[in-house]
Amino acid sequence: MDASSSLADVAAIDPADVDGLVDHLPLGSRLFTTGSDRSAGKAESSPGRLDSFHHYLDRGGLHGSREHPRALEARSRYFKTSPLVVSTLREEQLARGAALLLGTDDVIRTVLRVNILIPGQELAVHTDVAQFDGLAPRVPEWLRVVMHWSGLFEEHRVRVINAIALGKACVGGDLLAWLDGPAEEPTIMPALPGRAVLFDSDSTFHGVTRVGPDFRSCTAAKVRTGHSLERVSRDEWELKDADQSILQTVAHDELRITIMWKARAPLPLVREPISLQQILERIRADLQTSHSLTPNQQAILADFARVCADAYVPLPVWKPRPFSS
Ligand SMILES: [Fe+2]
Repeated sequence: MDASSSLADVAAIDPADVDGLVDHLPLGSRLFTTGSDRSAGKAESSPGRLDSFHHYLDRGGLHGSREHPRALEARSRYFKTSPLVVSTLREEQLARGAALLLGTDDVIRTVLRVNILIPGQELAVHTDVAQFDGLAPRVPEWLRVVMHWSGLFEEHRVRVINAIALGKACVGGDLLAWLDGPAEEPTIMPALPGRAVLFDSDSTFHGVTRVGPDFRSCTAAKVRTGHSLERVSRDEWELKDADQSILQTVAHDELRITIMWKARAPLPLVREPISLQQILERIRADLQTSHSLTPNQQAILADFARVCADAYVPLPVWKPRPFSS
């Protein structure tokens, strides 16, 4: 493993460590779904991850599925814990790998949580939401992804290394990562316990193949925002809807359980803040000067500008006044 590598396998991680972290969650702990909900055929109430969402639906995910978009969207709604504060995980190996990739001796863990996919779920190909220092609050996730890929905000970017580790094997659930760029073939990493994969997931496209053994699970195609996964015993979890009704009991052995651990280097002391308006203006200017847009894209950009203006510019409202005589 060398410092220039975008990937590090930390073979020495103990799968029992990952299992231990999951077992540390008390019985009754619930993991909630990700993503925004939609009505069939209607626009999303929140744009969420539109940087990758439509691509996922257009391609039918990694498997080229021809399922209804709502079913596909449901299959990509994995379950996650809140960030864990108390950790039983021995993190030295992960910190060492992250330090190598970041080129620093000093790394700070930023996130630790448990992610679970049930049989029939998969992960859309995406990059994670990039982190920026001095960023205005409530900048949407898709825009932070755009900011990173535009390269226009590098002075604010905080480089993060993501470690994904499995505690136990599962059927399916391979991690695919485009380590050599989106134009090259992805590296396929089967879900093997005891293996932590470290990479810059903000800059490397990645996704997860569908988890089995019930690859075509109808239940997984009906997961909605507000559904939860609750551990009810050592061997079983219950999938519940928003009203707490049990939709399915899932065996622990059938789940794809990973821990996600992220770390960054210490931040510089001073960084100029950047507002949402400055972000949008910089992107808009770059789009108009450095990219040849089709007429349709120009129209979309005009609409986008209109939406931004409507949202941010507090123009006065008045009643029509008669002409002065
Ligand atoms: Fe990711």
